[in-house]
Amino acid sequence: MVLSNKTVLVTGGAGYIGSHTVLALRDQGYQVLVLDNLEYGHRDLVEEVLGVELIVGDISDYKLLCNIFQSHQVSAVVHFAAYAYVGESCSNPGKYYRNNVVGTLTLLEAMRDCNVSQIVFSSTCATYGVPTEVPITESQPQNPINPYGVTKLTVEKMLRDFDTAHGIKSVIFRYFNAAGSDPEGRLGEDHSPETHLIPLVLQTALGHRDAISIFGTDYPTPDGTCIRDYIHVTDLAEAHVLGLKYLFEDNGSDIFNLGNGSGFSVREVIETAKQITGKAIPIVEESRRAGDPPILVGASEKARRLLGWKPLYSDLNQIIEHAWNWHQKRHTKSSVETASSNTNAQ
Ligand code: UFG
Repeated sequence: MVLSNKTVLVTGGAGYIGSHTVLALRDQGYQVLVLDNLEYGHRDLVEEVLGVELIVGDISDYKLLCNIFQSHQVSAVVHFAAYAYVGESCSNPGKYYRNNVVGTLTLLEAMRDCNVSQIVFSSTCATYGVPTEVPITESQPQNPINPYGVTKLTVEKMLRDFDTAHGIKSVIFRYFNAAGSDPEGRLGEDHSPETHLIPLVLQTALGHRDAISIFGTDYPTPDGTCIRDYIHVTDLAEAHVLGLKYLFEDNGSDIFNLGNGSGFSVREVIETAKQITGKAIPIVEESRRAGDPPILVGASEKARRLLGWKPLYSDLNQIIEHAWNWHQKRHTKSSVETASSNTNAQ
């Protein structure tokens, strides 16, 4: 363990990637504070599993942010708090601009006014839109095709301007498809509603869904289904630790893709899940989902070279196996809790 006396504020630390990053930061000896409004985050993961301080509040609360920065002598922010449902961002863009853009602006203004000058920001491959070349490098044009991607790209631009004007240094990570769960089974993915492929496939394997829908079988890919670059959430979390180190060593602002560089189709993911779970996973072929690029695969050499990032769990089998362990445990636990709270209520 590398001991650090620095205090780091993690916004959205009760969520999926945020909670795994809190675990990694805590294991490196950082003092970690979580700010989460718990709209989608899970209190139990922060308080019982991670055992770090949880402040329930919103990134749009300027006074709260200044209080936290001053009372805890925060050195840096790792910023996850955002809405991330692509479909909802199309039907209700205002919700996304308000939270992801205006909320982050408030956070940056509070940082500026309280002299907190380092931030790691979770951006997305959705800022590239439909790529002109695969694998996608950081220098490819960014033309997002949905409001969610636009909000993340807008924050990337705000960060550039806050660096120029106020010296706030940022490391921006553009993730490809986050998947898997803590290899020791302490944390995992628990979205409500769930829209992501791997958890939905595993819920089908558990019998909680009748079938998994395949959105589009006529893409220009070998088996007609979309190809994605699945990156283990623990490898993403490790990148955040390295990103913070990069900032603390005064390397300045920078932008990195985080992916494995290999793509798997929807059918390949389902087939792998069948083998790992040993369960039947019925499929239903449906039409394309709006806003899905056919192939998204990232080139992450820059993160390997400059941050020393080495993904440990790049095998899709391992990613799905870890997710499967978590889903079996979490769903059994939730069912038991639901059953017992129903009993108490009667
Ligand atoms: N898919 C299905 N059936 C489902 C769910 C998904 O076929 O029930 C397909 C999707 O159409 C897509 C692939 O599985 O082709 C992966 O879908 P996910 O929803 O798991 O992930 P996305 O690639 O849509 O989303 C991810 C991130 C977003 C980010 C986006 C960029 O989760 O935050 O990449 O395109 F915006």
